[in-house]
Amino acid sequence: MEVQDRVVVVTGAGRGIGAAMCRAFAAAGCRSVVVSDRHEDAALAVAQAIGSQAVANRCDVAIESDVQQLISDTIAQFGRVDIFCSNAGITVKGGLESCNADWQKMWDVNVMSRLFAARAVVPYMQDQGEGYLIHTASAAGLLMEIGSASYSVTKHADVAMAEWLAVCYGRAGIRVSVVCPLGVETDMLDDSDPIHRYLHLHSITADDAARSILDGIQKEEFLILPQAQVAEFFAMKTDNYDRWIRGFQRLRQKLTRDQNIV
Ligand SMILES: NC(=O)c1ccc[n+]([C@@H]2O[C@H](COP(=O)([O-])OP(=O)(O)OC[C@H]3O[C@@H](n4cnc5c(N)ncnc54)[C@H](O)[C@@H]3O)[C@@H](O)[C@H]2O)c1
Repeated sequence: MEVQDRVVVVTGAGRGIGAAMCRAFAAAGCRSVVVSDRHEDAALAVAQAIGSQAVANRCDVAIESDVQQLISDTIAQFGRVDIFCSNAGITVKGGLESCNADWQKMWDVNVMSRLFAARAVVPYMQDQGEGYLIHTASAAGLLMEIGSASYSVTKHADVAMAEWLAVCYGRAGIRVSVVCPLGVETDMLDDSDPIHRYLHLHSITADDAARSILDGIQKEEFLILPQAQVAEFFAMKTDNYDRWIRGFQRLRQKLTRDQNIV
């Protein structure tokens, strides 16, 4: 899809990858960019820096009525939604010891938000005859994040949601892409944590990630991989699952050796 003159919404756009996506959409000639975030001031700062193409909108994506309001505000203001980017996401470190409240929060922000968005916007896109859903998942959705069980599980769920939407709505003119980056240099990437730090091996800037996302949209690729190595790692997993599990066991052992983690 060409992005010129399109109306675009990006969630979690107050900083990081979402903010970079908004800047890239505006620079590529989108008519209107809705910069949405749970933190209104952050969204406003990004929108003001972009200029007259952008507006800010406060929305907590874990609350269905907020997501519905974001979409109805956009339709009321601009008459349509061409591209909806479900980008907002969070992480909580930890494994079996993570509390149920943290698992629920991860589920709501990383997965239910994508359902709320699709449920609200797909009917409008069907009436328009076309539309584009972008899900920022993660390489953890194809592989795993060793330091966070809930991130690994919810990002896999996001990839599954995107696959399901592509299969069920692709022939109705709704394009879907899922973005699966490795490390991106944002506040989410914790440099002090050795398990997180290995992601820096292949890390890129948020602006690099945004450029790759725009390129993927223009090519209408389902799987957008800002780091091409992810395709190789994913092929190794599907080629021989047991060898891949053993490889990740060795990697985890290496990363946790100095931390007394069992
Ligand atoms: N940074 C990485 O290394 C990396 C790698 C792969 C995937 N991702 C994914 O990319 C997306 C963006 O991550 P980022 O690195 O830019 O993170 P970030 O923490 O820099 O920014 C996330 C933004 O989302 C907003 N947000 C959080 N919860 C929200 C909610 N409930 N409702 C609305 N907004 C909310 C925050 O206020 C913040 O502005 C996430 O889905 C993340 O999982 C990040």
